[in-house]
Amino acid sequence: MKTNKATDIPTVIPFDYISNSDCIKGMKELPNYCVDLIIADPPYNLSKSGDWKWDNSVSLTGMGGNWNITNETWDNMSLNEYFNFSLAWLSEAKRILKPTGSMWIFGTYHNIGIINVACQMLDIEIINEVVWYKKNAFPNLSGRRLTASHETILWTHSGGKKRNYYFDYNYSKNGDFSDDKLKIFGKQMRTVWDLSNNKKPEELKYGKHPTQKPIKILTRMIKLSSNEGDIMLTPFSGAGSECVAAKITGRHYIGFEIDKEYCNISENRLANTQEEIEQMNLFEIAYEEKKQ
Ligand SMILES: C[S@@+](CC[C@H](N)C(=O)[O-])C[C@H]1O[C@@H](n2cnc3c(N)ncnc32)[C@H](O)[C@@H]1O
Repeated sequence: MKTNKATDIPTVIPFDYISNSDCIKGMKELPNYCVDLIIADPPYNLSKSGDWKWDNSVSLTGMGGNWNITNETWDNMSLNEYFNFSLAWLSEAKRILKPTGSMWIFGTYHNIGIINVACQMLDIEIINEVVWYKKNAFPNLSGRRLTASHETILWTHSGGKKRNYYFDYNYSKNGDFSDDKLKIFGKQMRTVWDLSNNKKPEELKYGKHPTQKPIKILTRMIKLSSNEGDIMLTPFSGAGSECVAAKITGRHYIGFEIDKEYCNISENRLANTQEEIEQMNLFEIAYEEKKQ
């Protein structure tokens, strides 16, 4: 079913699955305005090496941080190819996102400028640029640059001038962000987030992804910008972190991932989220008690 107007919002589409397929092809199969939230962690186009594979012991010389040398074909495009690829997936993301929805996009200086320009060309408005400050960033081994210790996240919407995207302002001020030393309880949330890139053992129990995002940054985004029962879509689902975060916060998910191995890790993670849900509930109860 294809519709063209924002008012023709379809009520039911299948959800809670990860498709082992290309996200541009996959999103083309979905109707207009059918998802409430998109979290995109696209390839950063960093794989510029000859014949290396993912290797956590080696960092990319001169890049200033713990960027691993890789030779993943999905992460090795020319500038033009990357620009066209960004326009292609962003166009589909814009088409399927509800006017009340929003989209978060991860990046670094290697790709975020291209994504920013592509968003502006497509009339995708940037709501905020968030700096994810990683205080545990890996030191710069060459000693020829500053130590890269942040990633950039664009929070965007495409609902036009009405700006009807959902934002939980109360959560942004009064939620539990006690692990973020820059966030003051009861004050407005700022655009610099202090979160380590460390993952809990249960996040890595079923396998790892070289650019895996920690669940805690994803649950923050999901709670800021969606309601329980909403559908979150992630075009580049990797080891399934965005889908796991959606599940543990009571949202539905749709993921696309071209690599079967990562789909298998995701399936195992998603089948075993009960422990994480119970832990999160315990934290929330403890936090509410502390506040009273
Ligand atoms: C940066 S990683 C995402 C990691 C994920 N956020 C996590 O925490 O596990 C990007 C992923 O996108 C996948 N990918 C690259 N191009 C794709 C495409 N066109 N469609 C679907 N997946 C793609 C890659 O296989 C890779 O696993």
